[in-house]
Amino acid sequence: MVEPAVTEARAAWLRAELERHNRAYYLLDSPTIPDAEYDRLFRELQDLEAGFPELLTPDSPTQRVGAAPLKVFPAHRHVVPMLSLNNAFVPEEVEAFDKRVRDGLETIAAIDYAVEPKFDGLAISLTYRDGIFVFGATRGDGISGEEVTPNLRTLRSIPLRLQGEGWPALIEIRGEVLMFKADFAELNARQRERGDKEFVNPRNAAAGSLRQLDSKITAGRPLSFFAYGVGAGREALAVGTHGELMERLVTWGFPVAAERDVVSGSRGLLAFFAKIGNLRAALPYDIDGVVYKVNRLDWQAQLGFVSRAPRFAIAHKFPAEEAMTEVLGIDVQVGRTGAITPVARLKPVFVGGVTVTNATLHNEDEVRRKDVRVGDTVIVRRAGDVIPEVLAIVPDKRPSRELFGGQPLYPAFELPKICPECSSAVARGLDEAIARCTGGLYCPAQRKQALWHFAARRAMDIEGLGDKLVDQLVDAGLVHSPADLYGLSLATLAGLERMGEKSAQNLLGAIDRSRQTTLARFIFALGIRNVGEATARDLARHFGTLDGIVNADAAALQEVPDVGPVVAASLIAFFGEPHNREIITRLLAAGLHWSESEPAAAGPKPMNGKTLVLTGTLPTLKRDEAKAMIESAGGKVAGSVSKKTDYVVAGEEAGSKLEKALALGVAVIDEAELLKLLEKGVE
Ligand code: IVH
Repeated sequence: MVEPAVTEARAAWLRAELERHNRAYYLLDSPTIPDAEYDRLFRELQDLEAGFPELLTPDSPTQRVGAAPLKVFPAHRHVVPMLSLNNAFVPEEVEAFDKRVRDGLETIAAIDYAVEPKFDGLAISLTYRDGIFVFGATRGDGISGEEVTPNLRTLRSIPLRLQGEGWPALIEIRGEVLMFKADFAELNARQRERGDKEFVNPRNAAAGSLRQLDSKITAGRPLSFFAYGVGAGREALAVGTHGELMERLVTWGFPVAAERDVVSGSRGLLAFFAKIGNLRAALPYDIDGVVYKVNRLDWQAQLGFVSRAPRFAIAHKFPAEEAMTEVLGIDVQVGRTGAITPVARLKPVFVGGVTVTNATLHNEDEVRRKDVRVGDTVIVRRAGDVIPEVLAIVPDKRPSRELFGGQPLYPAFELPKICPECSSAVARGLDEAIARCTGGLYCPAQRKQALWHFAARRAMDIEGLGDKLVDQLVDAGLVHSPADLYGLSLATLAGLERMGEKSAQNLLGAIDRSRQTTLARFIFALGIRNVGEATARDLARHFGTLDGIVNADAAALQEVPDVGPVVAASLIAFFGEPHNREIITRLLAAGLHWSESEPAAAGPKPMNGKTLVLTGTLPTLKRDEAKAMIESAGGKVAGSVSKKTDYVVAGEEAGSKLEKALALGVAVIDEAELLKLLEKGVE
């Protein structure tokens, strides 16, 4: 028989040990033990508590897995009300806030402000009694909220017991529950694979996950917490500023925003706003602005409140990145590579700082999955420079069935079978998300875009040959392929609408100058699928001559750093097409030239300058190993897929990142192909 005191001590040790690992993992982002070892300790504690229920304490990490489902959430009255913040949107409003603060304090000196990101999640209050987490509640109406303690216990970033010292007998910690962008993407990928409903954005996912009556469901959702203040109990703390208060929260084991700072005066505020604005896309979580608080706590008290918002703080908000609007129609667009993209035509809406009238629906499957139809109200998102997209429909706002004889007003979207631009067949390869027009350069849409691309600064650099002029030239039937550009005469050009003799002359000069180019630019200008600027440069460097590239077989092409089977296949398909070869012959006949060079002797590192994204489980490599190998080959591993991604390495159960890669036309490779890429050229 084990001594009760020994068992109790063991349970206490296990609790402390497990929470120490939790903190290392969630707070410091540096796991201290393997998951299997954590699980073993966890099970040992669970077994002890099962055998000796009196050993179970509310701060036991075993309580993080969720409790019995509730029927309703009990109401919880906050000891100190949870206030809201007034908003500022423009610099003048920030300056006015700063002036009000100085007037209120009767000073003309610059004020120090504690500044933080404004988390886009849910406000939460955590009550600790004698350092133990006893209640957690939502903001509700600010006076009382819903008690969701069992759900909040499942969040590993919320300490069940405060670390360190100096906390009063009762303290309310205020902060935000949110979901990291990467966790959100993984959760949605899982939801999709299971056929469950996907969440519109991380905020909704966080709210939906926290408001579960069954906390076991919450336990399976990746929620995080950040602290930004204290309700009841603050007076008892010997701190003079908000900055010091935040430091105190850190010593107790709470995550706080790493980007927090203390700045001086309205200039400091606006500089911080600009800085966080630039950082926003790179932050791992969504924010919707920044919060400014007078740093000195005695001054905060002196300034007090107006109705339900403090005079000492303000939220400086970014323009909303999501908005609701109506779908007026669904069109399809034909891209340079023939990709057919469904696009929603929208009732104009102000979002992300601009008026948006079109938003991408990515591909046929996406439209079906989201079930977007004409007449629907949709949520549109425009973040940074990203193309606006339709995130989801608002089902409640769909025109009701009854009104239209029990039938949905508009049928489900179907992709046209023929290209709207040239009537060529539209084809979709097996396992491909994107459908394409098979018309090639016969298709005016592809022709126009091929010409824009050909003339672009980084390609043949023909100054003055912009989108409008290309449209005019193609529509008038004067130019069918890039080779036709070199046959244009002054008279033809000067005869075009809105084109004077002088501009025509300038354009001819630019066309003429483009005849002297480099092999790399020429290859890039051809607009071969999957062949970007860097690949074009690598090809030119490796082969040295155009003939070398045109005649290379797949094996020879794959000797070039960064050229895998996908790129090799694109090159072979392009040069195998007789009309492409004809265009090249005509371009050379028109006098395009470059100095041919010897192939580079020792190639650069195989992944130099390449950006890869890893998704899913690879058959043999661990994620960290793959990352280290790519980095030592000169490449970079990014967390999310964009047009700038060179490759997506997809393994088992790859989810949304794979879909995004397919939608954007980013090359997708598997582990075997990755290893091949890594091997080539590595001494
Ligand atoms: S301080 C008395 N700091 O913004 C001031 N609030 O309208 C209390 N929020 O829902 C708020 N990040 O949950 C503060 N760093 C931050 C914040 C923040 C997000 C939320 C808060 C509330 C809303 C205020």
